[in-house]
Amino acid sequence: MAKTIEPLFDEAAIAERVDALAEEIDQAITGDFVVVGLLKGSFIFVADLARALYRKGREPRIEFMRLSSYGMGTQSAGEVHLLGDIPTDIAGGQILLVDDIVDTGRSIAYAMALMKQREVAGLWTCALLDKPSRREVEVTADFVGFSIEDLFIAGYGIDYAEKYRYLPYIGVATD
Ligand code: IMP
Ligand code: MG
Repeated sequence: MAKTIEPLFDEAAIAERVDALAEEIDQAITGDFVVVGLLKGSFIFVADLARALYRKGREPRIEFMRLSSYGMGTQSAGEVHLLGDIPTDIAGGQILLVDDIVDTGRSIAYAMALMKQREVAGLWTCALLDKPSRREVEVTADFVGFSIEDLFIAGYGIDYAEKYRYLPYIGVATD
């Protein structure tokens, strides 16, 4: 278990970046859209992003989808499973998928494929954090908060063995 979560991005830095992301999203997406957050890691990011979008004059519907996770470890199991789905009535709408971190890319690629099967009218992806050096599946998020090195992150909704989601800042888990 990590002893400390060393601050990487503080509350002010996150708030500033989330606001800038909302601006980018507002510019890029015309018309109604549904924010689909991937649980559990994105719950705080979605909460802040939704309010930042509202301040830009946008009023997206908000849904969540739950995918399988690392469990108690720090390594991806390699396979993604759907643990909780969004309602079927989003068919035909525009979707903004929101995740906490794009790491190997498997989770976001899985969610994108699932949305495409449902013939959505438009599909965008947003990740608070991106670890491009870790990629195993070729996928690029349309909107990225921070691009980072291969570090293990916790805080601001993101867990390390189900701990630290409550931290108001984003930090690096160190032993
Ligand atoms: P991917 O499928 O490998 O891209 O992994 C994406 C998911 O793994 C993210 O949504 C996170 O939930 C989790 N994850 C990836 N990197 C980290 C990390 O550094 N800390 C905590 N969770 C992580
Ligand atoms: Mg996740």
